[in-house]
Formats: sequence, C-alpha cells, structure tokens
Amino acid sequence: MKILFYDTKAYDKASFEEENRRHPAVEIDYLKTDLAPRTAPLAEGYDAVCAFVNSDVGTETVEALQRHGVRLILMRCAGFNNVDLEAADRCGIAVLRVPGYSPEAVAEHAMALALGVNRRLHKAYVKVRENDFSLNGLMGINFYQKTAGIVGTGKIGAAMARICRGFGMKVLAYDLYENPALKDFVTYVTLDELLGESDLISLHCPLLESTYHLINRDTIARMKDGVILVNTSRGALVKTEDLIEGIRAHKFFGVGLDVYEEETPNVFEDRSEQILEHSITARLLSFPNVMITSHQGFFTREALSAIAETTLANAEAWEKGEKTGNEAGR
Ligand code: NAI
Repeated sequence: MKILFYDTKAYDKASFEEENRRHPAVEIDYLKTDLAPRTAPLAEGYDAVCAFVNSDVGTETVEALQRHGVRLILMRCAGFNNVDLEAADRCGIAVLRVPGYSPEAVAEHAMALALGVNRRLHKAYVKVRENDFSLNGLMGINFYQKTAGIVGTGKIGAAMARICRGFGMKVLAYDLYENPALKDFVTYVTLDELLGESDLISLHCPLLESTYHLINRDTIARMKDGVILVNTSRGALVKTEDLIEGIRAHKFFGVGLDVYEEETPNVFEDRSEQILEHSITARLLSFPNVMITSHQGFFTREALSAIAETTLANAEAWEKGEKTGNEAGR
C-alpha cells in the first residue's frame, strides 16, 4: 500500500518512520506541501493520502483525489471539520482519523495556558530577561476552590476535568451527553449556568454547525466578569471579533488560545520575517492578558507516536476491509 504524506515536518517524518518499521507492507512518501486542490494531483499512483488539521480537504480536493485514483484519506488528527465527508462518500473515498491519541496532551496544554495567562507567565518571562524584577501587572488568582466550566466532556474534556479537580476546583460541565466516568466529581449544568458560574471556562467540544461561534457577544455577556477563557479545541468555536470586544470591555481576566479563527496560514509556519497587515492575531496579542500558542496542544512525544501507530493501523485495517471504529463522522 502506498501513502502520500502531505505537510510533512521533521518530527512527523521521525515518528512515522519509526512506526513504519512495524508495517513493512506500507510505503510512505513525504511531501512538504500541504493538501489542497492544486496539490491533490500529486497523489496519482498512491492508494491513500495522509493529511492534517489545516489541510484543505474540501469538495474540490476530494474530487481531485478521486480523479487521481486515491481511495483513502488518513487524517493524522482527531478533528475532521476540514474534510468534506459527503464528497468523500460520493467519491467512494474512505476517511479515517485518530480519535484519541493522547487526550492528556491537549488537556495538560489547556491547563498550561490557563495557568500561564493567569500568572502572566508570558510577561514575567520577558520582564526577568530584561532585568525587570518588579511584580507590576503579574498578580493572578488562585484556582483552588474556584469553579471550572468544561464545555464538551469527551476524551480531552474529561482529562481537563480531572486536572481541574486535582487543583481543588469545583468542576461544572456542559455536554449533550453526560460522561459516566466523571459522575463522582463533575456536575452537569446548562450552558447558561456554566457560563454564569465558572471562573475558568475551557472549550473541548468539536467544531460543528451547532458549535460554530458558540462563544460570541451574547454568550460572553453571560459569563462572569473576570473569567479566564481557554480554547484548545477549534478556532471557530469563538467569534474573534466578539472576543476582542469582550477583552476591550475588561470582561476577561485572561484568554489562552491554542487555536483561533485566523490560524490556517500560520499553523506550523515560521512567518517571523513577514508583515501580517490585517492580522487579527496581532490585535489579540496586543492585549496583556492574552496568550496564544500555535495549535501545539497535541504536540508531545507520546501523542506523536500514538498518532503514527493509529494512522498506520487504520491504513492496514482499511486495506483488509476491516472496520476500525476510527471512520470520520461515525
Ligand atoms: P470527543 O469526541 O472525545 O469529545 C467531544 C465532546 O464534545 C463529546 O462528549 C460530545 O458529546 C461533545 N459535544 C458535541 N457537541 C457539543 C455541543 N454542541 N455542546 C457541548 N458539547 C458537545 O473529542 P476529543 O478527543 O475530546 O476532542 C475534542 C476536540 O479537541 C476535537 O474536536 C478537536 O477539535 C480538538 N483537538 C485539539 C487539539 C490541539 O492540538 N489543540 C488536538 C486534538 C483535538
């Protein structure tokens, strides 16, 4: 079986080459370019393509892949909001993903952002480097005995709920379904109640039509003043313009974002020599209580090995005609 791997970074290649030793029948070629309508024809002669969170796997790409004989899209990530599943279905292309490679990796990063922005670590680090040992602007709040609100208690949200409990926080959650594993310490409430009572709100639901711009002017207005908001899920869960308005109105004690609406051209690219003239990201970064990282929640050694392991297992299972449970959209 032949896989064409798009948007390859050195760390992707290292983890997949390591795992590939256990799958000698799988042949992988690595491309630096990302998957998009223009680059889809490069997959001619391959059975499968392997893509990532910001690849363009929309209708045009899927149809181009079909024309070039590709029958399988391997997403090396959990989310698949960037894949046109209907087009894939129509084109007879299977889409497999990696639903839960290391929920703790993302949850730990969510807490790192919450703590970082709370204690202004991004500012403290720079101040001390400049020999400024004053504490002005660095005062935080205790998380102990505060309330955490987790939106979406699947694998990552559950891991975040456990971490928050470990900090001695009261944990509220909102989800369409209750996670029975959390029943001993999580109280499920309505979204309104969660917004109104939480000191820390962390988003862990997928990006769907129903969750698009879940955090907007209206929902921000219902939050407590001085709340900390963390998004490690998908950028478009938050309407950025409304977030900026809320930050300007001093609604938030802090905002930690690993994902944001405008991220696609930025993610995993070094753009330090470019002038980003219309950048919303730059506007967000101009606020002292905002900390942004570039979609690195998943990025731990353990998670990368698990992603490679599941992706190649997905490929082999598909070739044998076996169901894995990792079909996107199930
Ligand atoms: P999961 O599928 O285990 O859990 C998602 C939960 O959200 C489910 O319990 C589901 O019922 C709930 N949900 C669905 N619609 C909802 C709604 N309207 N309101 C409230 N809850 C709703 O997914 P998992 O593995 O926990 O991942 C969550 C998200 O994290 C992924 O969809 C992905 O977007 C993001 N992610 C981010 C990464 C990063 O590097 N920053 C890495 C991996 C995932």
